Amino acid sequence: KKGGYPHFMLKEIHEQPESLRNTILPRVQNKLPDFTADNIPDSLFHGISRIIITACGTAMHAGLIGKMMLEKLLRIPVSVEVASEFRYQDPIIDKGTLVITISQSGETADTLAALKLSKERGAATLSIVNVKGSSIARESDYVLYTHAGPEIAVASTKAYTAQLSCLYLLAFRFAYATGKMEKDACIDELQQLLHAVSVLEEVLSQDKIIEEISIQVKDKEDLFFIGRGLDYALSCEGSIKLKEISYIHSEAYAAGELKHGTLSLVTEGVPVVALATQQKVYSKMISNIREVKARNAFVILVTVEDQEAEASIYDYHIVLPKIKDEYAPFPAAVVLQLLAYYTSLHRGLNVDQPRNLAKSVTVE
Ligand code: M6R
Repeated sequence: KKGGYPHFMLKEIHEQPESLRNTILPRVQNKLPDFTADNIPDSLFHGISRIIITACGTAMHAGLIGKMMLEKLLRIPVSVEVASEFRYQDPIIDKGTLVITISQSGETADTLAALKLSKERGAATLSIVNVKGSSIARESDYVLYTHAGPEIAVASTKAYTAQLSCLYLLAFRFAYATGKMEKDACIDELQQLLHAVSVLEEVLSQDKIIEEISIQVKDKEDLFFIGRGLDYALSCEGSIKLKEISYIHSEAYAAGELKHGTLSLVTEGVPVVALATQQKVYSKMISNIREVKARNAFVILVTVEDQEAEASIYDYHIVLPKIKDEYAPFPAAVVLQLLAYYTSLHRGLNVDQPRNLAKSVTVE
């Protein structure tokens, strides 16, 4: 069942190149993203002036990355709402609003309720769901299925990256269909996405160094993830992954926020995972890393190939294959998943079924 892997989580982490290709390739026609087989017409995108993404947990974190990509390409406002909050608010929704719900199981009670509320208020609804025929899929006007295959481990891994790929495809098609992106540019973006998938094998093969880091951090009480832009959104995911299966307290911070309070918690030996994959804010990240290193933090730096980093600012350095800023979340996510996995493993915990948590949260 576990295909030779000791845990479902490790198996599912390693399945990502395949699950991503299964999700992306059926939606490629003449080198362009195409949703004809998904019954999602281009007419859906015309007249949309605003997007709300609503989901829970890891699916919501995928939404945080999706927001940045959608806003970049569409130049319309996108907000990301935690479903359990959104459903009890009095959300402003009209016909020009597209509500995107994201869910692996398609059964999360709060996400389903947020979807129903959105429909009642007249929004167009599209869901990104893994489980075929699930409640959320059935309730939505349109469905873009992630073809990640069954995800058994409670910690979501391959569903998350598949959700990201659907959000990117959606951003490409939406931008192309509404004339906001030229054909050649759209073809190029899709190539970049496929390139991001092709570098994952290389990242998966770095698991020894990640395991070594996990042994260094496994007995720590607190851990911080810092980043800017997409790296901040990804930090949120790195933090939930680690805490849910290793039971180590962790927080994700926008690196620029550190000096507004959190830096007081960074003391000698406190691990800080610093994600610095975004070239446009690289120098700003390096200054933030210097700030934590000056407090003797234990720094695990993640950068992209060719990016200079002086050895004095980190304890471990993970180098990702060369990739454009927008696509770095794919390989970087794999690093964070492996870090959570090995930390849980070396703490002797039940990796696939952490205490107090369920795979499908059908209670409110
Ligand atoms: O099935 P869903 O995607 O709707 O589940 C949402 C969350 O419960 C889920 O992502 C949870 O946060 C994961 N256990 C995180 O790894």
